[in-house]
Amino acid sequence: MSSAGVVPLLGRVAAAVSEAIARVRPETADADPVVRRSDRADFQSNAALPLAKRVGLAPQQLGADLAAGVDLTDGVIADVKVSGPGFLNITLADSAVWETVAARLADDRLGVPTTEDGQRVVIDYSAPNVAKEMHVGHLRTTIIGDSLARVFGFLGADVVRANHLGDWGTQFGMLIQYIDEHPESPWHTEELGSDTSSVSALDSLYKAARKLFDSDPGFADRARTRVVALQAGDPDTVARWREIVAESEKSFGAIYDRLGVLLTPDDYVGESFYNDQLADTVTELVDKGVAVDSDGAVVVLSEQVTGPDDQPAVLMARKRDGGYGYDSTDLATIRYRIASLHADRLLYVTDSRQALHFQLVFEAARRVGWLTDAIEVDHVAYGTILGPDGKPFKTRAGGTVRLMDLLDEAVARVRAVVAEKNPDLSSAELDTIAEQAGIGAVKYADLSTSRVKDYSFDPDRMTALNGNTGVYLQYAHARVCSILRKAGAATPAVVDSAGPLEPAERELALALDGYGTVLAEAADALEPHRLAGYLYDLARAYTSFYDSCPVITADEPIRSNRIALCQLTARTLALGLGQLGMAAPQRM
Ligand code: ARG
Repeated sequence: MSSAGVVPLLGRVAAAVSEAIARVRPETADADPVVRRSDRADFQSNAALPLAKRVGLAPQQLGADLAAGVDLTDGVIADVKVSGPGFLNITLADSAVWETVAARLADDRLGVPTTEDGQRVVIDYSAPNVAKEMHVGHLRTTIIGDSLARVFGFLGADVVRANHLGDWGTQFGMLIQYIDEHPESPWHTEELGSDTSSVSALDSLYKAARKLFDSDPGFADRARTRVVALQAGDPDTVARWREIVAESEKSFGAIYDRLGVLLTPDDYVGESFYNDQLADTVTELVDKGVAVDSDGAVVVLSEQVTGPDDQPAVLMARKRDGGYGYDSTDLATIRYRIASLHADRLLYVTDSRQALHFQLVFEAARRVGWLTDAIEVDHVAYGTILGPDGKPFKTRAGGTVRLMDLLDEAVARVRAVVAEKNPDLSSAELDTIAEQAGIGAVKYADLSTSRVKDYSFDPDRMTALNGNTGVYLQYAHARVCSILRKAGAATPAVVDSAGPLEPAERELALALDGYGTVLAEAADALEPHRLAGYLYDLARAYTSFYDSCPVITADEPIRSNRIALCQLTARTLALGLGQLGMAAPQRM
């Protein structure tokens, strides 16, 4: 359902300054009011400086004219002063601040509008590879993609979660052939459980098959024949392939459950799904002159990017042997998402090493006419996870780090931290909290760093109680809940907008009022860390408020007004943590 939301005070002030500009200087009515939060007053407008240049006036003079032109009659703005070279310092009416708190508290969505209403957003994320174990490399795409899916969903978009599983390709011919030739392999002998052991087995088989493929030309030939059989739909081969895919999906599902991400089996649309669209896709590219023959292969030569040899960068639409690969599939995928899913926006969440690949896919899709200016497309690129020592993340033995092991480690750390702080918790309660906070810590460490940067996976740091961590934020939320329990405040407090407003209350109220603005920015820039940073600042604004403004012992109407602030803080923190994909326990 669409919602217009509560207009943030920042927006109301900006509108008032815009009106003043239009009144004072109608010829510049389009000018940006340049309003932002300020330490000197509630807001500051820097509009006069660039405008003065435009109209040939002294900025101070123009500032004074604008200040006089701001309408104070609707009760939102109490005072406007000119300072320095023409800044406007703008102070809100106390009642307007309290009214906004009341309006947000009364709304299910805390007054956040559905700005993405009706937009179909396809988010390609997670996308682990079948027959391989999910490793630390798939953590970021899963966490970032999940948060974006939640944020866009909350903003009213029709989100399509696309888990582009690597479930197709020549490697499956090799693997199936190997399994068939090795009746002693665990694939035949072991009971296939619901846990991840069968995928570990697959992972080893895969490595063994690869080794044999590289060393034994006879096996390589039989493997190639097997690929052809798979692609031609040979029933036995396809049955074995399905078995392998199903086992892998089960183990991915176990990780998704543990991480608490939104992905379900309905979202699994792997590479194999596009198999029967590949030939048509290539034909269309050739017919429209975008793909050309090159030594028997069909390629798209970039008009924008050149490689190190000064030759155009190449996208392989069809290989010389007639086969299709990763590039071909992504061409068919973008075509399908636009033509059949009617996407308005396409997001691809993968690490930054795939930047060139996606740049080439987008360019080809534009040239062939699938991708138009009406459709937004982004490669949501992210940096690498490093070990605590700042070097590429490896196990002690030098292998890739399994995702489940990492999660176990974080949960164990948090369990120790919480148990120490809270010796009274029962073991069952401790388990639940440790799981929520441990997983939350991992997610928050990822989502609070700027996406494009590399970061170190450091269980000690990410589970600290103080500083910018997930555990700190969850504690902050639990603390507000505990105060509300003590105050006996079960229903939304009634706000008296004529009540007094202390500076710390004012800071907190203005911070709370900014949630929707930050959320829109995070969606716009595809940067969940803006939301994380906001929540951290909010938690600190709450702490300052709580230190200087007693809640439970205050007299009315102050008490109710403060309870309203606590309630809005708890709900904003819970909503924000939820949009980062984190739990917000009521007790910790
Ligand atoms: N399976 C790939 C990998 O593990 C990621 C796929 C990303 N999505 C896409 N449409 N290419 O690297």
